[in-house]
Amino acid sequence: MTALYHILGAKQFNRTELEELFESASRLENRELWNTDPRFQGKIMTTLFFEASTRTRLSFESAMSRLGGKVIGTENAAQFSSTIKGETLEDTIRIVSGYSDLIVLRHTDIGAAERAAKVADVPIINAGDGAGEHPTQALLDLYSIRKECGRIEGLTIAMIGDLAYGRTVHSLSYMLANYPDIRLLFVSPENVRIPSYVKHFLDEKGVSYRETEDFDEALQTADVLYQTRIQKERFPSVEEYRKAEGRYIINRDILGKMRQDAIILHPLPRAGEIAVEVDDDPRAAYFRQAQNGLYIRMALVEKCLAAK
Ligand code: ASP
Ligand code: CP
Repeated sequence: MTALYHILGAKQFNRTELEELFESASRLENRELWNTDPRFQGKIMTTLFFEASTRTRLSFESAMSRLGGKVIGTENAAQFSSTIKGETLEDTIRIVSGYSDLIVLRHTDIGAAERAAKVADVPIINAGDGAGEHPTQALLDLYSIRKECGRIEGLTIAMIGDLAYGRTVHSLSYMLANYPDIRLLFVSPENVRIPSYVKHFLDEKGVSYRETEDFDEALQTADVLYQTRIQKERFPSVEEYRKAEGRYIINRDILGKMRQDAIILHPLPRAGEIAVEVDDDPRAAYFRQAQNGLYIRMALVEKCLAAK
């Protein structure tokens, strides 16, 4: 058997793999190709979600269905799987490996996908592991940047909001390190700054970055404003959450200060940090970004199953 192709973290991707994946996603945007590939017939994907999700779970399920495969799973694995009876993640994964060809896992614990991959007989896709990583989100973020801006290299990307608990920011920072001349601006309240382990990685890779609390600097210089939600559910106390919430809100005033050629991305869901009045501005790219998740996930399912 060839090695399983797991998707566990953003650091596993090099530039060639990223470009190949983007080519596949772009090809799979063509509806005429959906449900035509016999390789997916009879294939089953399991979605095991121990945390809430709208986009990630449903776009993976849609991706598999549109490729012609089938989907099983549980949207609330913490309560509706035998985890509630005390079954370990490892045992759950061993069992589900026997029922399907691919497992998409979202879990509360950092490192859960790696643990799953150690015991799985089928590929594991990390759909978010606590405050750790969300590599498939980073893939669709990069794909969106490439589509919206025409390139990734040479861009200034401002990541705004909860950079400590926001796993999408960690994965996106790692993945951007594959591209030359990237400048990162980390704009956050003091208590949710970008973790030092992310900064060490960027230092090793020679990526230029700066931390600031100054929103105006980001508005004037960034090609991409990557806004994020303050991850309320991950704070140790309500007091800590209150210190971070409500600081950086993109509204009509902010649109007026932004560059005309910049775009706004957000992994979503939003919780007040982008006003609804922003949605009709052509620079608001977050709904197009979420749609790109379908194409990227079709490409990922194809790659994982082809490598099996
Ligand atoms: N949906 C993304 C995640 O699961 C971002 C968020 O929840 O704020 O990480
Ligand atoms: N962006 C994202 O992961 O969304 P969900 O949490 O709704 O899956």
